[in-house]
Amino acid sequence: MIYKGLKGVVCTETKLSMIDGERGQLIYAGYPAKNLSKEHSFEEVAYLLWYGKLPSANELEDIKKKFKEARTLPDYLKNIIKNLPKRLEMLDVIRTVTSSIELISTDKPSVDDAVRITTLIPSAIAYRLYCLDKQPFPDIRKDLDHVAYYLYMVTGREPRGEHVRALETYMILTMEHGLNASTFSARVTASSESDLASAITSAIGTMKGPLHGGAPTGVLELLNEASQSNDIHQMIQEKVERGEKLMGFGHRVYKTLDPRAIALKDILQQNKQDEDWFDLAIKVEDIAVNVLEDLKPGRGLYTNVEYYAAAVMKELKLDPSLFTSTFTASRVIGWTAHVMEQLEDNTIFRPKAEYVGPVFAE
Ligand code: ACO
Repeated sequence: MIYKGLKGVVCTETKLSMIDGERGQLIYAGYPAKNLSKEHSFEEVAYLLWYGKLPSANELEDIKKKFKEARTLPDYLKNIIKNLPKRLEMLDVIRTVTSSIELISTDKPSVDDAVRITTLIPSAIAYRLYCLDKQPFPDIRKDLDHVAYYLYMVTGREPRGEHVRALETYMILTMEHGLNASTFSARVTASSESDLASAITSAIGTMKGPLHGGAPTGVLELLNEASQSNDIHQMIQEKVERGEKLMGFGHRVYKTLDPRAIALKDILQQNKQDEDWFDLAIKVEDIAVNVLEDLKPGRGLYTNVEYYAAAVMKELKLDPSLFTSTFTASRVIGWTAHVMEQLEDNTIFRPKAEYVGPVFAE
């Protein structure tokens, strides 16, 4: 029996998250992700995934301090960024910087290194934007918590409270999601007892594809196309009939509404600035779900987290080139937690392939 894409194959145990695809439930280390995103900060949920428990007040203060102290981008990383070709995408830059980070712990992955990789992402993005003449390089600030710092670095502007809250909700909801393709990549690399930077570099490479982290940009394109169409229903129907995948719809695990999409839609409903765009997103969702149910009955195709992620990022006025990078900036927490978990009880990943080519005589 061949399980293409390892569909349905269970190949490890995890204490990090539980996904119930039929009931639309996502749990991080025991807690519903939706509640965590409403009641806790990015740093608290990162701590939960790294240590398996929510932090005490002192532990939270310590981890926040570590985040703030790791923000300075070393000169050698600045030089690498400066010398990269201008046409490279932002995610290529983050992948390259991650692969070059000098780790503190050389023997095994540590939370200190996980913090270091997480924290250098916004600094690297800001420096790249500066090299592309898109904004001045902002002063590294230590008064902001991580999500506010992220927003400040990637926009070069003082972050607004409601924007930080919307982004923090998104970044908590997308921090961790079981053995998705990029996390699996990280665990495969870690399973050879390679180092944390290599494992996260593998994950970023996997994240880049349009079927995974690249989807929000495709959602934006779909909505832009819809905004110019006289007949959105027909436009969507033709796409599905041509065999195109609608970006932001469908999920390997969720066969009902993605709970993260519901939570993001809620927060957008409360804070939306661009009513027309939000109304268009809802209209396209309704039409697409109906078309998919007609043309692909029984497949359980609904919006996934990336659909409303695109709306959140548009609301924050983030440049589309930053969408996948922002997803990476949150998922890096799950990746690093999985790498540490993999090494607690490691077996190298080594599935088999069935040979279907010819065999020539020796
Ligand atoms: N649009 C149209 N049809 C779809 C879509 C879609 N978005 N998603 C699935 N289908 C159809 C497939 O064509 C297939 O039809 P068939 O049975 O006639 O062959 C059926 O539904 C099952 O789809 P699979 O691709 O086999 O489902 P799989 O679990 O392998 O793929 C995936 C899941 C990759 C997310 C897929 O739904 C997809 O490509 N979606 C669009 C890209 C996207 O939004 N990615 C973000 C995912 S969330 C994340 O990564 C954080």
